[in-house]
Amino acid sequence: MDIRKWIAEMTLEEKASLCSGRDFWHSQNVDRVGIPSAMMCDGPHGLRKQKGEGDHLGINVSIETVCYPTASALAASFDRDLLRDLGATLGEECQAEDVAMLLGPGLNMKRSPLCGRNFEYFSEDPYLAGELGASYIRGLQGKGVAACVKHFAANNQETRRMSGSSNLDERTLHEIYLPAFEAAVKKGKTRSIMCAYNGINGTFCAEDKMLLTDILREKWGYDGFVVTDWGAVKDRVKGIVAGLDLEMPGGLGVQDGDIVKAVQEGRLEEAKLDQTVERILVFLRDYLDARKPETVADRKEMSEKSGAFAAQCAVLLKNEGVLPIDRTKKIAFIGEFADRPRYQGAGSSHINVPHAISALETASGLDVTYAQGFDVHREERNDALLQEALEAAWAADVAVIFAGLPDAYETEGADRDDMGMPQAQNRLIAEVAKVQKNVAVVLHGGAPMELPWADQVGAILCMYLGGERVGEAAVKLLTGEENPCGKLAETWPLRLEDNPSYLNFPGVDGQVDYREGIYIGYRYYDKKKMETLFPFGHGLSYTEFAYSDLRLDKAAIPDTEALTVTCKVKNVGSMAGKEAVQLYVREENPHAARPVRELKGFEKVSLRPGEEKEVRFVLDKRSFAYYEEKIHDWYVESGAYAVEIGASSRDIRLEGSVQVQGTVEIPMTFTYESAVGDLRKTAKGRVFLEQMTAQSSRASIQEDTEAMGEGSSKMDERMMFEMPLRSIVSFGRMTMDQLDGLLAVLNAE
Ligand code: BGC
Repeated sequence: MDIRKWIAEMTLEEKASLCSGRDFWHSQNVDRVGIPSAMMCDGPHGLRKQKGEGDHLGINVSIETVCYPTASALAASFDRDLLRDLGATLGEECQAEDVAMLLGPGLNMKRSPLCGRNFEYFSEDPYLAGELGASYIRGLQGKGVAACVKHFAANNQETRRMSGSSNLDERTLHEIYLPAFEAAVKKGKTRSIMCAYNGINGTFCAEDKMLLTDILREKWGYDGFVVTDWGAVKDRVKGIVAGLDLEMPGGLGVQDGDIVKAVQEGRLEEAKLDQTVERILVFLRDYLDARKPETVADRKEMSEKSGAFAAQCAVLLKNEGVLPIDRTKKIAFIGEFADRPRYQGAGSSHINVPHAISALETASGLDVTYAQGFDVHREERNDALLQEALEAAWAADVAVIFAGLPDAYETEGADRDDMGMPQAQNRLIAEVAKVQKNVAVVLHGGAPMELPWADQVGAILCMYLGGERVGEAAVKLLTGEENPCGKLAETWPLRLEDNPSYLNFPGVDGQVDYREGIYIGYRYYDKKKMETLFPFGHGLSYTEFAYSDLRLDKAAIPDTEALTVTCKVKNVGSMAGKEAVQLYVREENPHAARPVRELKGFEKVSLRPGEEKEVRFVLDKRSFAYYEEKIHDWYVESGAYAVEIGASSRDIRLEGSVQVQGTVEIPMTFTYESAVGDLRKTAKGRVFLEQMTAQSSRASIQEDTEAMGEGSSKMDERMMFEMPLRSIVSFGRMTMDQLDGLLAVLNAE
């Protein structure tokens, strides 16, 4: 297919018509020149293909298919291979259903635990979200189906989601809210991106040239197309100028007329329109080239995969010897979710599942009694159900309470009011813990919850929203048939008020100020040394892992060189298991504002009892850099960096250090008022500073016995660094002429 020929043959009206959909789920066809339409469907944790009337709120029915764990669960796997496998499985199904593009994955950051769509997003950490997202994309696109990462960008809440503005500084945008998308472009090679409804600093994403062209295409080299979130277009022509390609849904043809008129009146260059059309045509050509309508998707196999994934995503948050449960024990299953599991959230990602497997129906070989415990649709307590649950718990050897967030708490279009679970459930758990010492709580929900009873129970297993076989996976984990290996991809704070976005979420009148800046999630809790309920990266296993032999292949590197880090991990327990080994980088003495540590690597290793493996990470410039607004780019400060290997962000097992030399200099203009300490920021400045300190303190340093005492060299140095350069003259160490000469040298190109 010759795309240029297609463009040349089309009339202006036909080209304009191609820029919006034919209906809710299809792109436009132009039969006269043989351009087909292609179907796109929601995902990301299943295929939501609507054959009848379309809608983007998950209301009308879609084909019956398999629901996989949602993104918040998937991220807890810390497993790139799993994400790739899921992407490939979905790709096969899309091929079988003749779907050209799947709308996902969602790569927005979890700024607040209250975002109603947190279950659809991966993490509070951009690196983790980017790596997992890129793997999913590679799996999906490997089957010839386009991914569509969403929602680009800074779409982190549902309140005023279609009209609000996320207001944030340049560094925060680049360091926290964009990198997952950047990884999707550079590593995942995503073929499509969905722009968000919201604005950034007052400009709607659908009209934001800085976002859709300057950053996306020019900085990152993106060559795919940009589709709107459904109904995100305000001014279509502005959109095209900004870099927006396809408007969805379509069918009204209203905006097509705007495009035609704008070209005719000279407000839109036809060449610009052709560029947009070309990107859409590339998508259509690739779809035709990769189509495999003869593909058969094996629903049984897919469903089994969903169950296997769910077991890999569960996080064992706490275990004081209650789990795994011996299969001969009398077990009480308590809580409605044991019978009717919660396994997905509401909205456009809603998958039509014929039957979700419950824990109760999986427990047939076990000695299990069941008590409903609470009515999930009612907030108020039900004493009869509570009484029945207490009796069941009392009569059993161990009680497992299936609890969590009701459906209505987590949905597209609305944020949660608070971080709590329904009071009836909290009360049930606390009361059961009084009559039974062996209590395990199984949690269902797509985001952190406050757990006021956490100290009173022996075990907590978080299944998140684990897809259609979550109940079966839970039973396998509870009984030790599977070993938990998930780790938290987000911090669980003790209480909502601890969350850094708390004072500015969800904003006022659609204006959301991201005042916490780069300090989201563990970046904030670590900096403030705050206690958390469960830290980022936390997750227990039924076995134990020993970490050893940390090696960094170099002691010092320029930031242009890579550093290879290896360590060993050994399963020192008696059960096979998997460990997500995490690598964090910490700048030891930063001048810039920086989080204490940041995740820069992770590897999931599978180990039999007694087995040991080497884990390898490669760190590059980005692993040490922060986004420096002065140069509008990533920047590495010269200095010492700790490389930490941990089982969680708060359980660092090994630590090494590397000296990194930054190779980029921030341009600076020195004046009389520049601080002496600023001299450390440039090479010429550092040379001068060294000479000055060597001369002035030679004698005093030698005599300085009390290094930190009053008048010590350390104190002198700190005071001196804060003084303006002109003070060198005031203190008689230089003449004014000499200072002018110095400034001239420092400021010379
Ligand atoms: C959602 C998208 C979804 C689209 C189509 C929008 O409301 O924000 O995530 O892909 O609808 O259903």
